[in-house]
Amino acid sequence: METVLSGIRSTGNLHLGNYFGAIRNFIRMQHEHNCYFFIADYHSLTTHPTPENLHNNVKQVLVEYLAAGLDPEIATLYVQSDVPEVAELYLLLNMNAYMGELERCTTFKDKARSQPNNINAGLLTYPVLMAADIIIHKATKVPVGKDQEQHLEMARTFANRFNRLYNVNYFIEPVAYNFGDDLIKIPGLDGSTKMGKSESEGNAVFLADEPEVIRKKVMRAVSDAGPQTPNQPKAQSIENLFNIMKVVSTKDTIKHFEDAYNNCTIRYGDMKKQLAEDIIAFTTPLREKILEFASDNEYLKKVAKMGAEKARESASKTVREVREIIGFKPF
Ligand code: TYM
Repeated sequence: METVLSGIRSTGNLHLGNYFGAIRNFIRMQHEHNCYFFIADYHSLTTHPTPENLHNNVKQVLVEYLAAGLDPEIATLYVQSDVPEVAELYLLLNMNAYMGELERCTTFKDKARSQPNNINAGLLTYPVLMAADIIIHKATKVPVGKDQEQHLEMARTFANRFNRLYNVNYFIEPVAYNFGDDLIKIPGLDGSTKMGKSESEGNAVFLADEPEVIRKKVMRAVSDAGPQTPNQPKAQSIENLFNIMKVVSTKDTIKHFEDAYNNCTIRYGDMKKQLAEDIIAFTTPLREKILEFASDNEYLKKVAKMGAEKARESASKTVREVREIIGFKPF
C-alpha cells in the first residue's frame, strides 16, 4: 500500500481541470491506498483573501471534495492550517531552499508577471510549503495535473537534499501521478491552454455552475471559421474544444465531430451545443451533492475534525523525527 497525497488551493470554486487533473484520481485511489487529501489554505494567503473569503473558500473546497466522492471515513481529508506541523517543516526546509532555484520556478515567474504589485515571499517559497505538505506524510504518489510537475520535481529536490545534508535516508522522493497515464492539462474555453481559477472570465467551467451558465460559457468559447481543407491541423482553440470533449463525451460523439472536422462539414455551434450538454450531464449530479453538503455544517465540522486528528498524528511524528535529525535536543 502506498501513501498518496494531494491538495487543492482554496482560492475559489473548483473547475473541470481540478476534477480531471486531480480529484478523479484521488477517488480512484482512496480504496487501495493510504490517502491524504487536503485543502491548501495557507497557500491561498499569497493572494490576501479577506477572513470571510478565506473561510468560505475552504468550506467550498471541502464541500466539493465530498460531493465528488471523497470518503472521509476511508481517506484522511483535512484542512492544511489545522495541521500547524506543516508550517514548522516548511520553516525547516526553507533553510535549504535557494533563491536561485525558487526564482527559476515557472509558476513563480508567471505569478510575478500577473501580480507585479504583490510578489511576496510566500509566492517565492510556495514550492517549499508544497514539498512540506507532501513529505510530512512520506507520500510517494501525488495525483496532480501537468501544471504541478515542476513543483513535484522541487519536492524531490528538497527531500533528497535533506537526506544528503544529514546523511539519512529519511524522506521519500514523491512523484506526480495520473493513474498510470500521462499528466493532463484541461484547456480553457477562452482559447488558452489551461483552465484555471484565476484566468479570464469564461475560461473555466465550475463544478457548481448552473446548466444555463454552462451553456452560455460553452457557446461563447473561442472557435474559428472552420477547416478549409480536409484533415488540416486544428487551431489551438479548436483542439481545446476536442480535448474537453475527450473527458466528458462518449467515443461516438468525439468520432462524429472528428470526422466532421476532417471532411470540413463541422459546425462549431452544433459541437458546442453537444459539449455543453455533455458537461451538464457530468456536473449535474455533482452540483446536486454540492448543494446538499453545503447546508450540513455539522457534518462538515465533524469531517474536518476527524481529518485534522488523523493528519496531525502522522505529521507530528515526522516533525519530531526531523527535529531530532537536525539536532534539536531537550536539555
Ligand atoms: P491548484 O489549486 O492550482 O490545482 C489543484 C489541482 O488541480 C489541477 N489542475 C488541473 N489539472 C488539469 N488541467 C487543468 N487545467 C488544471 N488546473 C488545475 C492541478 O494540477 C492540481 O493538481 N500547488 C497546488 C496545491 C497544493 C498541492 C500540495 C498539490 C499545495 N500543496 C501538495 C499536491 C500536493 C495548486 O495550487 O493546485
